[in-house]
Amino acid sequence: MPPLRILVTGATGFLGPYVQGALAARGYEVVTTARSGGDAMVDLTQPGMVAAVLEALSPAFVLNLAAMAKLGDCELDPERAHRTNAQLPGLLAERCGDRLLHVSTDLVFDGRSAPYDERSATAPLSVYGGSKVEGEEAVVRLGGRVVRLPLLFGADARGRGASSSVRKALREQRIVELYTNEYRTPLHALDAAQGLAELIALRRCPQILHLPGPERCSRWELARRLCALHQLEAMPLVPVECQDGLRPRDVSLCGTWQARRSLDEMLEDA
Ligand SMILES: NC(=O)c1ccc[n+]([C@@H]2O[C@H](COP(=O)([O-])OP(=O)(O)OC[C@H]3O[C@@H](n4cnc5c(N)ncnc54)[C@H](OP(=O)(O)O)[C@@H]3O)[C@@H](O)[C@H]2O)c1
Repeated sequence: MPPLRILVTGATGFLGPYVQGALAARGYEVVTTARSGGDAMVDLTQPGMVAAVLEALSPAFVLNLAAMAKLGDCELDPERAHRTNAQLPGLLAERCGDRLLHVSTDLVFDGRSAPYDERSATAPLSVYGGSKVEGEEAVVRLGGRVVRLPLLFGADARGRGASSSVRKALREQRIVELYTNEYRTPLHALDAAQGLAELIALRRCPQILHLPGPERCSRWELARRLCALHQLEAMPLVPVECQDGLRPRDVSLCGTWQARRSLDEMLEDA
């Protein structure tokens, strides 16, 4: 039998290459799309583009990573955030139904009653969180599945992700301010990608699933542990209290899925 063809949208992002590797390792044929690269280099929010890409690449399954994923960008351009994070997942779900796995975020929660499991009520504080909630709701309504990811880290040539951005700043000898009071359950992008690849293979699976990292941890603690494990000079790291009302204080996730590596093992590899 020929390998199952999976379309990964948002393939040029931070998580994209990890996901492509994890799917290829499981024997899937991977086809990709993004605005700046991939097999189909398109803006999926343009009229007719979802249908055209699905027709051209005819995937058996779609993993949607395409997103406007920066909190500040979404506040500046809420309309684009809505098109990308809310409407696009709905358009994909309309055509793919249960052949769609859509990636969402822990920032759909307000941070006041962590830890959050899959049945917890969403209460986004930001345009980003709100647009992701709308996307989730459309996908669930149309029979697709949603996976919520926590803060991701891991190596990235462009300095994206929670650990790579710290490393980049240290290389450039910049001061890095890190929040001591913003708690997440950080996960290495490799473990997230392997989790997503596992879920595609599972036919019977809840419509909403969390992939929490192994520990609750602040951004400050994460960076300090990264520096300690890799003997990096931690002096430029500055602990600061987050006062930003758009950033929930504690969006630790919990659920039935469990990471296979400890946080230190993941950080060794970041
Ligand atoms: N990174 C994290 O810590 C984190 C945490 C929780 C959840 N997530 C979720 O995980 C997913 C992947 O995140 P990421 O960090 O890899 O995001 P990212 O680095 O910002 O990448 C976003 C991807 O989406 C593509 N994209 C954006 N708008 C598009 C459009 N209109 N048409 C087609 N493609 C478009 C981008 O393509 P171009 O670059 O070519 O424009 C890029 O490939 C997102 O759903 C995000 O919300 C991420």
